[in-house]
Amino acid sequence: MESTWGSNTGIVELRPDVRDTLGRPLRDLRISVMDRCNFRCPYCMPEDIYDRNFRFLSSRERLSFSEIVRLTRLFARMGACKLRITGGEPLLRAGLADLIGDLSRLEGVEDIALTTNGVLLAQQAAALTAAGLDRVTVSLDAVDEELFRRMSGGRGRLEAVLDGISEARAAGLNPIKINAVIQRGVNDGHVPELVDHFRGTGMILRFIEYMDVGTINNWSETQTVPAAEIVETIHRRWPLRPLEANYHGEVARRYEFVDGQGELGFITSVSQPFCGSCNRARLSSDGRLFTCLFASEGLDLRGPMRDGAPDDALLNLMRGRWSRRADRYSELRSSGRAGAGTDKRVEMYYIGG
Ligand code: GTP
Ligand code: 5AD
Ligand code: SF4
Ligand code: SF4
Repeated sequence: MESTWGSNTGIVELRPDVRDTLGRPLRDLRISVMDRCNFRCPYCMPEDIYDRNFRFLSSRERLSFSEIVRLTRLFARMGACKLRITGGEPLLRAGLADLIGDLSRLEGVEDIALTTNGVLLAQQAAALTAAGLDRVTVSLDAVDEELFRRMSGGRGRLEAVLDGISEARAAGLNPIKINAVIQRGVNDGHVPELVDHFRGTGMILRFIEYMDVGTINNWSETQTVPAAEIVETIHRRWPLRPLEANYHGEVARRYEFVDGQGELGFITSVSQPFCGSCNRARLSSDGRLFTCLFASEGLDLRGPMRDGAPDDALLNLMRGRWSRRADRYSELRSSGRAGAGTDKRVEMYYIGG
């Protein structure tokens, strides 16, 4: 069928990697496959807003697997080599292993990771691994049953998440990372308990500074516990020393236990932002390209794609957007320049972190 976009030649020229206005290439693509979640973490999807009247995307509004694969192929031509599947909760998307399989066969894709709350992981870990998943990161803010339940909005069962982690290990996913968001007055007192649980297991526990993502969580900086404070708390009981980054632009700052019992990570987006090396693009489940976690708008790729745009037209749109990218929200926040005029920001559950 002829469309306003002309016919698809099927040939997309290979051009040098595109750089943004700050010289940053695109390397990581974070793909949200589902805006829904089976948790209601108060800092992300508070129950009173995300109740049964909330209108999530319909399946027609979400990108199909073939649309995701097509866009990812184009992102790979722009330089993306690491993929991360996110949500909401990505394991709520039926048939996810099929998507992973298709993505793993794309030229240029070197690494596929998944971020999940872990509740549905036990039953899916083996199939996802067999399909080509390389790594998994499980979000887990507490290992205290009662606190965990509260932090998941009354929805999560700690045992199910721990089973998910065990099955992921059994399936051979490696390394397994555990992400814990620390909020002052909520779970900051439970840091040693988390460390004690994961130390010596080979898994990498990472502490994330609580951020002002989106607008519904009424964030204030007093709720953020700076990573330096957490490092200090842990170091007093289990001496730590810093490690080099694994690769340029790694989000987490790495530390190891001096006694050889493994590694920890600290994600310091509030106290020590890392925008200078940010090579991450985010694709929402309805096909918008976001060039920053704190962006208010995304570039609609679904519309042109469903209108029949050929690959080269889509690629031009994507390259054009990346080449105009100037985002460095966290750096501006820390220098006191963010905030004004930025009251509209995409929510975490929609863009996947
Ligand atoms: P690795 O590939 O394992 O190094 O993963 P990663 O650290 O890039 O991904 P992960 O999803 O585990 O990131 C952990 C958390 O860090 C996210 O959920 C976000 O909360 C935060 N984060 C990741 N990327 C960014 C970013 O670009 N900006 C900011 N401000 N925070 C980020
Ligand atoms: N600040 C920091 N991390 C957050 N996450 C969700 N909301 C926030 C926030 N405001 C985390 C989740 C998960 C990852 C996708 O992002 O707990 O680990
Ligand atoms: Fe919690 Fe993650 Fe679900 Fe948000 S997307 S409610 S942080 S589990
Ligand atoms: Fe990248 Fe935006 Fe996060 Fe800075 S604030 S690291 S530009 S996603």
